[in-house]
Amino acid sequence: MISKKLLDAINEQINAEYYSAYLYLSMSAWLEAENLPGFANWMQMQNREETMHATKLYDYILERGGRVQLKAIDAPPTKWDSPLAVFEETLKHERKVTALINDLMNLAIAEKDHPATIFLQWFVSEQVEEESSVETVLQQLKMIQQAPGMVFMMDRELGQRSFTPPADSAD
Ligand code: FEO
Repeated sequence: MISKKLLDAINEQINAEYYSAYLYLSMSAWLEAENLPGFANWMQMQNREETMHATKLYDYILERGGRVQLKAIDAPPTKWDSPLAVFEETLKHERKVTALINDLMNLAIAEKDHPATIFLQWFVSEQVEEESSVETVLQQLKMIQQAPGMVFMMDRELGQRSFTPPADSAD
């Protein structure tokens, strides 16, 4: 049986993942309004990834016989100064989520909950990928700061991103 402490922490993480989904959806809306549909698409895919993360945690609680507790989701910001500012905030946010996942893993270890540590391993690896993909876009945006026309080429490229749910995901 999963401990109350770990159960509460996973329920909190569901909320953090839904906040991430909400944040990226808000960024997508702003980018679309700024006539950058490719960047907006990238954020839409990010939104779907976050919803999948929340669903994975939700399913896990139920699988372990725990109770899911959905909490209120904070309102995200609605505007940014530039696409660069959007991606700087995204990287900062992902680093925060990585710290939350590491805390969750530390708790599972402290609680000697071996199945939970195995389950959380997926999230530890996922965060490495999440940070890396955001960093790639951010570095490219920094490189083209002096050539605004390149933003539109990048927009075309980011428009190609699609969402592929992992094989073991119920989403
Ligand atoms: Fe669910 Fe982007 O971390």
